Amino acid sequence: MACAKPNLYVYATAEELSRAAADLFLQIGRQAVAATGRFTVALAGGSTPRRLYELLAENPHRAGMDWTAVEWFFGDERAVPQDHPDSNYRMARAALLDPVAAPAGRVHGMEAERADLSAAAADYQAELARVFGLDSDGPPPVFDLVLLGMGADGHTASLFPCTKALRVSNDWVTANDVPQISSRRMTLTFPLINNAANVLFLVAGSDKAGALAEVLEGPADPDRLPSQSVVPLAGNLFWYVDAAAAGQ
Ligand code: 6PG
Repeated sequence: MACAKPNLYVYATAEELSRAAADLFLQIGRQAVAATGRFTVALAGGSTPRRLYELLAENPHRAGMDWTAVEWFFGDERAVPQDHPDSNYRMARAALLDPVAAPAGRVHGMEAERADLSAAAADYQAELARVFGLDSDGPPPVFDLVLLGMGADGHTASLFPCTKALRVSNDWVTANDVPQISSRRMTLTFPLINNAANVLFLVAGSDKAGALAEVLEGPADPDRLPSQSVVPLAGNLFWYVDAAAAGQ
């Protein structure tokens, strides 16, 4: 592991990146459980985090955490049923939540397949408020950890370039129409993500190299590169990338 820049860690391979991320996940999770009795996490979707989830579900990592103390939320979800191959919930269930026997009441999936996606987002916000013991009209919760991926277009969660969700300044969760992929999504918003105690980006693959270079080193252009808007107010921001993604 080489710390190429403050909070930017470059790993030779995606496997090494996933192993390092599993170590960090456990470190943050154990600290949270020791401090508060629970660990609140928002899982990333897509394909990159799958290996991280698989590693967490097997020893030694599996033995390193009280998995019943985790409150599992999701960073975003596609407008598909939870058993659909494209579902982020389904991927996380198969790779991690089922293998560690996550208690049903602590797994909070997004109902992104509902026709009224705005109502579903409002219900998810109410669920967040309930679990965190907050007023859903007040400031967003402070997650112990938010996991994020990044697309080759610089999007993160379902915060895609030039979409309405980028401008949400109060809601914690929102529906988002994404014309560039002809789909609707539910996503956590920047106010919630930037309130987290720890945010961990996982970026792997040469197809991400251009966007990564622009996001980290290019001029500020957050409407075109939404990942640039992930700037935790007080929390830690970690970029775990592989050498291929760091190629530029
Ligand atoms: C999703 C994710 C999305 C993902 C990026 C990267 O629902 O697709 O939340 O933000 O993290 O698109 O996806 P890959 O990891 O598959 O490259």
